[in-house]
Amino acid sequence: SDLDLAIRGGTVITASDTIRCDVGIRNGRVALLAEAITDAKKTIDASGLYVMPGGIDSHVHLDQDSGPDITMADGFETGSRSAAAGGNTTIIPFALQVKGSSLRGCVSDYHAKAEGKSLIDYGFHLIVSDPTPTVLNQELPALFADGCTSFKVFMTYDDLVLNDRQLLEVFSVARREQALVMVHAEGYDTIKFMTETLEAAGKTAPYYHGVSRPEVIEREASHRAISHAELIDVPIMIVHVSGREAMEQIRWAKQRGLKVYAETCPQYITLTADDMKGANMDMSGAKYVCSPPPRDTDSQKAIWEGLSQGVFHTFSSDHCPFFYDSPRGKLSPKGQTSFKYVPNGIPGVETRMPILWSEGVAKGRISANEFVALTSTNHAKIYGLYPKKGTIAVGSDADIVLWDPNRKEVLRQEILHHGSDYTPWEGFAVTGYPVMTIARGRVIVEDGKVLGKPGDGQFLKRDKSPYAVPAGA
Ligand code: URP
Ligand code: ZN
Ligand code: ZN
Repeated sequence: SDLDLAIRGGTVITASDTIRCDVGIRNGRVALLAEAITDAKKTIDASGLYVMPGGIDSHVHLDQDSGPDITMADGFETGSRSAAAGGNTTIIPFALQVKGSSLRGCVSDYHAKAEGKSLIDYGFHLIVSDPTPTVLNQELPALFADGCTSFKVFMTYDDLVLNDRQLLEVFSVARREQALVMVHAEGYDTIKFMTETLEAAGKTAPYYHGVSRPEVIEREASHRAISHAELIDVPIMIVHVSGREAMEQIRWAKQRGLKVYAETCPQYITLTADDMKGANMDMSGAKYVCSPPPRDTDSQKAIWEGLSQGVFHTFSSDHCPFFYDSPRGKLSPKGQTSFKYVPNGIPGVETRMPILWSEGVAKGRISANEFVALTSTNHAKIYGLYPKKGTIAVGSDADIVLWDPNRKEVLRQEILHHGSDYTPWEGFAVTGYPVMTIARGRVIVEDGKVLGKPGDGQFLKRDKSPYAVPAGA
């Protein structure tokens, strides 16, 4: 036949179905699902394995401008390689507007950073840090037309924060353009107050990063974002929700009929604030510093509730990789040791899927179909990539991960492919691991060996999000 490849003997799992069938691939797309495909040019034996849509990680930071003193540990090559090794076939990193600069100019920079580098397909979310009239009325519409149909706004960080007025203006543009807004919901002034109070008391170890931004600060900002979204009548996605407090606001919004979506991440089901204590409150706690910070084991339970009850649509890594043992990384530039100078973020694009499978599916908290929805399908639907991406159906890109549900692995820095010099999950034991990643019909990772090449990945012009349609007129 004219099939290029057949994946034989596996169990195909999509967000809705679990089917024993073979998958036939032609020209990089799924061409045939059938009981037995015996006539393809090449065959892969998937017996005993699950055949799932490749992971889509819709929250990844690569080669992102992090100020003059800090260098991100992954660009598009190492970041996408790490993603592929972790079972992903698509990533959506951010193109960040530097305040005072043209957003379009910044986006061109990110295209240049990614060009010829990524091993897997990628899109861009925009980060709007300076919503001037030109940005709102000319640059954003032009960038939407170019396939960047979602953008993130921040309610904290000196270089990124938008005030309420600016949030409302950006939300209005999102409503008009049917763009999906992602919101980083933590309060700027409250964090600043807490940080200065802690510093004045000499409490500067990494652990106090968590103390400086407790759940109530995330809850307040989440509520404020939801209220602004209700006022404008625009759907929003609240990203990296860390615990019960913010989650209850999202539940409340959903009950009111508001289109409020939510994302959570591996750190909020596996890490706690105590990890930031390191060894006797030393700097090693900085390895776990991210925002919002990891909370406590009760919060982890709350997040599981949300994952199994459909409060969360997406489970993303928020891969934001820095070096630990570097003056341009977590150990802070210029000898500064306060938590205030520790760059926020942790690497996790490669470990996201194994952690959710192991803690979720292997432990009976979610089904394998829910796993697929949370790691792939919902990302494609929400960010305008479905059904090209996010499912295994005739006509879809042949982006597939072969998953061994029984394989035991201990997560360690030495088995990972990212640029960071550590993993927050060193020594974390998982059951279930990807054994092959196939992107547009080509095997790009086999048993941890990366076969894909930089430049194989293409920029994805994304459709408008069907989830971004306003509720009313
Ligand atoms: O600490 C984090 N998450 N850093 C990454 C940037 C962000 O806010 O997502
Ligand atoms: Zn954020
Ligand atoms: Zn992030």
